Amino acid sequence: MSTVQARGPGRVNLIGEHTDYNGGLALPFAIDRGVTVTAEPAGGKEIHAEAHDLGETDSFLLDCPGKARGWRAFVRGMVAELTGAGYGLRPCRLRIEGDLDQGAGLSSSAALEAALCLALLATAGEAEPADRRELAKLCSRVENGWVGAQTGLLDQLASLCSEPGHALRIDFATLDLQPVPLDLGDWTLVTIDSGTVHEHAGSGYNERRAECRQACERLGIASLRDATIADVERLPEPLDRRARHVITENERVDEMTRALAAHDLQAVAALLDASHASLRDDYDSSTPEVERTIDQAGAAGARMVGGGFGGAVLALLRPGVVRPPGALAVVPGPPAALV
Ligand code: GLA
Repeated sequence: MSTVQARGPGRVNLIGEHTDYNGGLALPFAIDRGVTVTAEPAGGKEIHAEAHDLGETDSFLLDCPGKARGWRAFVRGMVAELTGAGYGLRPCRLRIEGDLDQGAGLSSSAALEAALCLALLATAGEAEPADRRELAKLCSRVENGWVGAQTGLLDQLASLCSEPGHALRIDFATLDLQPVPLDLGDWTLVTIDSGTVHEHAGSGYNERRAECRQACERLGIASLRDATIADVERLPEPLDRRARHVITENERVDEMTRALAAHDLQAVAALLDASHASLRDDYDSSTPEVERTIDQAGAAGARMVGGGFGGAVLALLRPGVVRPPGALAVVPGPPAALV
């Protein structure tokens, strides 16, 4: 086998936040920034990995990866999960590099997972599964079991299953995927880093997941997808607000799909604002830095994106509006692939 290279994109979630682990709806898209993994076959029994941008390395036995922290947990976890799924991996040297800021809420994690799994499979001569949703689930197990972040499937599905020029409507109850054309005319979507790094494993993310589970238990339902707005009244504070966010956010995903089909950019902007207000007031996942970033964006509509508690803001700018300093224009790019 020769040297291979795989690229995993980061993602932006247009709308549908904190709905994935609640069996709900979301509308993310892969962006044209991400992580590249180069895999070169090696002798011996080890995997050698280099996080080029960090200037760090790791080496471990292919058949006994063991636990580690930080980026090393992704590599070791991926090797263990692929092996556990029956893929015959081979010793190799991995070089990881990227153009996606870590912790900015654009899912450098899923980008890394997607690039890693495609590179590891290709260098071992293994074909990827016919259904990429299976790879997304495997990547998610790496994050849950090895990195320790109880994230849902949003980021991995966006990175692996998006289509260029489209957002991806995901129904997390059925894992049904539907590409939705994302044509914004002269309007621009940008992300702006709030300057505060968020880290899922240490943030309020896991606490919110636990609250949603408690809400389900009290309502006697399997997931908040099955809750109605009338159920909110039956929940104590703050579970009532958490559930209300999820229920109304699912509705906004469908409203967004309709607004895009109608090329109604004012409605798109209003939905971004509404999503943000719900995340801030009902989900309590904003921070003063995120609020300041939104206030200063000069956007028609804007919202925090990803897990929240810091990270990036997604803003929709009217034609001709000057981009705020540091803003990154985001367009829907291709999914993870071998380069
Ligand atoms: C993070 C997680 C996703 C999802 C979002 C919130 O990005 O990784 O699984 O839960 O937060 O929508």
